[in-house]
Amino acid sequence: MYTRYFVALEVLAFAFSPIAAWNTDVHQQIGYMAENFLTSYTSDILGEILESQYNKSIGLAAAWADAYAHTKEGRYSYQWHWIDAHDNPPTYCHVDYKYDCAKGGCIVSAIANQTEILRGCIDNVKNGLLSGGSNMTCSNALKWVTHFVGDIAQPLHSSGLGNGGNLFNVTFGGKRTELHAVWDGEIIYADAGVTVFPNASIHPFMINLVDRINKDSFSVPTSEWLSCTNPNTPQQCALAWARDSNTWTCRYVYKYAYNNTDLLESGYAKGAYPIVELQISKAALRLGTWLNILVGKELNKGSGLVLQRPLS
Ligand SMILES: *[C@@H]1O[C@H](CO)[C@@H](O)[C@H](O)[C@H]1NC(C)=O
Ligand SMILES: *[C@@H]1O[C@H](CO)[C@@H](O)[C@H](O)[C@H]1NC(C)=O
Ligand SMILES: *[C@@H]1O[C@H](CO)[C@@H](O)[C@H](O)[C@H]1NC(C)=O
Ligand SMILES: *[C@@H]1O[C@H](CO)[C@@H](O)[C@H](O)[C@H]1NC(C)=O
Ligand SMILES: *[C@@H]1O[C@H](CO)[C@@H](O)[C@H](O)[C@H]1NC(C)=O
Ligand SMILES: *[C@@H]1O[C@H](CO)[C@@H](O)[C@H](O)[C@H]1NC(C)=O
Repeated sequence: MYTRYFVALEVLAFAFSPIAAWNTDVHQQIGYMAENFLTSYTSDILGEILESQYNKSIGLAAAWADAYAHTKEGRYSYQWHWIDAHDNPPTYCHVDYKYDCAKGGCIVSAIANQTEILRGCIDNVKNGLLSGGSNMTCSNALKWVTHFVGDIAQPLHSSGLGNGGNLFNVTFGGKRTELHAVWDGEIIYADAGVTVFPNASIHPFMINLVDRINKDSFSVPTSEWLSCTNPNTPQQCALAWARDSNTWTCRYVYKYAYNNTDLLESGYAKGAYPIVELQISKAALRLGTWLNILVGKELNKGSGLVLQRPLS
């Protein structure tokens, strides 16, 4: 029996476009944050994988996957942006890979799949067989990994209820929206005091998160965020990240969303700030670490630093 309490809105004729991910600018910010954790060797290798329009920046490339998922050509990848846990938040939370990962792929299988592809691409760069972003399979693999390691930290990308919260209408700061969109952008915008983040550079709010990661000053230590960060077991780690995110749907997302309240005014957003800050920071550190380990494999002849934990 579901006991959820949501704002019941009158049916209004306004365009409703389901949102599939952290907003574009939030994805880019996670990418720019992750760049702070890349070794220069990793950056150089990855820079050869991306097409030149991305200026060797995974931050700039981090939102491509959403645009692509909405093209006819890329529609097959749309469902790779989430995993629909068949659980019952806030009472029961769990992600079961076999049961929840849809035929055709989900965010867990997509991370695993694209990580494997990316591994081969990295070898090709090292062997001089790939440069200048000339192989689209490779560039796309890097853009997908960058994007999905971001998305998997958004609690409603690891939750199936109401299409990941897309079907729960809510009010936020007087604006009619839905719960998924609140977690994709509204909470972090309110927290940072912005309406949008810059798309070509890291915002001071995210610089501060990077500093906090380096100081290991979050409520959960970074060692726990990275407890599974081995690209040799990509499915196992992606599933661990999905389960980690999914726990928030029981601990907060659905637990404190009440009917007839504005989620910005009610205290819901404020209570969510530390969660969103934590999840975004996890995404950035995991991504940087994942890519360093992937690139660092077999290069470590004395000089290549494999950054597994942030340096303080
Ligand atoms: C909250 O809203 C839902 C959906 O409109 C409705 O079914 C439920 O009865 C409401 N609950 C309360 C306590 O008002
Ligand atoms: C939520 O809002 C959409 C768009 O206005 C509307 O079509 C839908 O019926 C609403 N759902 C509920 C449960 O009120
Ligand atoms: C890429 O870098 C060039 C040279 O620094 C700059 O002029 C251009 O604006 C950058 N493009 C984007 C999309 O940031
Ligand atoms: C794995 O990646 C390939 C190449 O991008 C793609 O064709 C295939 O559908 C992917 N499978 C899954 C389950 O993600
Ligand atoms: C592009 O890279 C993929 C993955 O490494 C490889 O399978 C494919 O053959 C490459 N394509 C070209 C044209 O080199
Ligand atoms: C960045 O934002 C500007 C202004 O909204 C826009 O013109 C530009 O296309 C965006 N660039 C990217 C790479 O998203």
